[in-house]
Amino acid sequence: MSAPAPATHDGGAPLPGPATAEWWQSAVIYQVYPRSFADGNGDGVGDLPGLIARLPYIASLGVDGIWMTPFQPSPQVDQGYDVSDYCGVDPLFGTMEDFDRLLELAHSLGLRILLDVVPNHCSSEHPLFQQALAAGPGSRERELFHFVEGRSSGPESPSDLPPNNWQSVFGGQAWSRATPDSDTDTEWYLHLFSAGQPDWNWRNPEVGDYFEDVLRFWFDKGVDGLRIDVAHALFKAEGLPDAPSASPVVDGLRSNPLVSDQEEVHEVYRRWRRLAEQYQPQRLLVGEVNLEPSRAARYTRGDEMHQAFAFAFVRLGWDAVAWAAVGTELEAARTLHGAAPTWALENHDIVRSATRFGGGRLGARRARAALVALLGLPGSAYIYQGQELGLPEVDVPVDSRVDPMWARGGVTRDGARVPLPWAENPSLTHGFSEREAAGPWLPVPEGWGDYAVERQQQDPHSVLHLATQAIALRRRLWDEGVFTADDGGTWRVEEGTLLLCERSPGFLVALAMGAERVKLPAGVVLFSAFPLAEDGWLQPDNAVWIRRD
Ligand code: BGC
Repeated sequence: MSAPAPATHDGGAPLPGPATAEWWQSAVIYQVYPRSFADGNGDGVGDLPGLIARLPYIASLGVDGIWMTPFQPSPQVDQGYDVSDYCGVDPLFGTMEDFDRLLELAHSLGLRILLDVVPNHCSSEHPLFQQALAAGPGSRERELFHFVEGRSSGPESPSDLPPNNWQSVFGGQAWSRATPDSDTDTEWYLHLFSAGQPDWNWRNPEVGDYFEDVLRFWFDKGVDGLRIDVAHALFKAEGLPDAPSASPVVDGLRSNPLVSDQEEVHEVYRRWRRLAEQYQPQRLLVGEVNLEPSRAARYTRGDEMHQAFAFAFVRLGWDAVAWAAVGTELEAARTLHGAAPTWALENHDIVRSATRFGGGRLGARRARAALVALLGLPGSAYIYQGQELGLPEVDVPVDSRVDPMWARGGVTRDGARVPLPWAENPSLTHGFSEREAAGPWLPVPEGWGDYAVERQQQDPHSVLHLATQAIALRRRLWDEGVFTADDGGTWRVEEGTLLLCERSPGFLVALAMGAERVKLPAGVVLFSAFPLAEDGWLQPDNAVWIRRD
């Protein structure tokens, strides 16, 4: 592979990255959920000034950049994934000047900034949706969205039923009446998520042009890339036919093939890639493509996105055979389309790994080991704020839950979104708020201070220390050329429960997923999640990186 020029940032100092690969191929990205990261103004909601103050902490982890979930103006029906102005900053989080300061400081600390773009839907408060409502049935304004005449249950009840049987990802039907009390406006509009999130009609070219302007706005500012929300769902099957089954959505959009993975969507990402490549350095596109590996890989063909999250492990329990099968599938997809997996075990939508892997001390051990394993695998890795602290899922009291998914009858995602504990002392919500504050937007549980950054920074055995060391070693291995962008992974299971990923010739990631100790594979142990207790053996729930040559 030819060595790309070092990434400079619009005249600024070069940002780090190995000389032999594009920076994202080796990257560890830290996901910031701004409302729960740090509260600078004491209103109980995290914000940009809070994030700015804590940027040195993120830089100290040694990560390459930050992906920020939405902070644009929004009624916050879905905590910002209902955007009413794609090119602004919600006053809840600060101002555009704050954002500009954030970007500048991040770059000066060697951190890239990725933003979340939400192209499948906007907020029902978005001016273009409001204009469409006002313009009425049959108008050009309504063609930007999916407004469709309802079906009728009988001659007496015109349009009293939604246009088709599609279900919302959040539960309930995916349609709402445009003007509920009107006799003349009998149209419904489509929303794959909540009623406050109308879907754009991507078959109308004006929508594509609109988003191109949005991308240009942020790219021109110097934003380094975008995470693309629900990237596989923008196009719906022509004619919006009934789905084969109207059963409740149990696994995102995957149970309705008519709203997912339509071929036309790829043209959007080809256009976005061409745009990203017009910038120097080129901007990164990473997709939330919630499909099985072989389908998701098609979104990272050479002229589409650079990355798509590999979520496959998230759906699995602590099971070496299942992980090896998924690893093999992802490797096959990489071989086919060239883009290495983009590993993620957690994000703001998923139950925290310490809880998924068994909860309590067992889950905590496994989450720690899984994080070490993840950071050694070929491909880039995304970690979610608090994962580096080993935070568990919180059982948020029912009265305090705000997730619209919960409100529409689904599970709640609030438990992974509880404000970060910075300080052991419970005052000011463990340092989440920098000033005397209103209560945090989600309550923190008893004992939250045990996970505090401040405490873990002083403990050489903490998850925080471990994660920082793993990231540092990973970077060194890239710099020394042990890890390269061409690395693949050969996956297998030994002794029934030892998961192995042979990375490039001579490097092995091993994760002991059984209840019994297993033989430590031959080679020099470079790193382990826990100290090795016995010569030649690997204890349950430990992970190691091994150099074989
Ligand atoms: C985001 C969720 C959000 C949904 C709708 C997801 O992929 O990560 O938090 O609720 O898209 O925008």
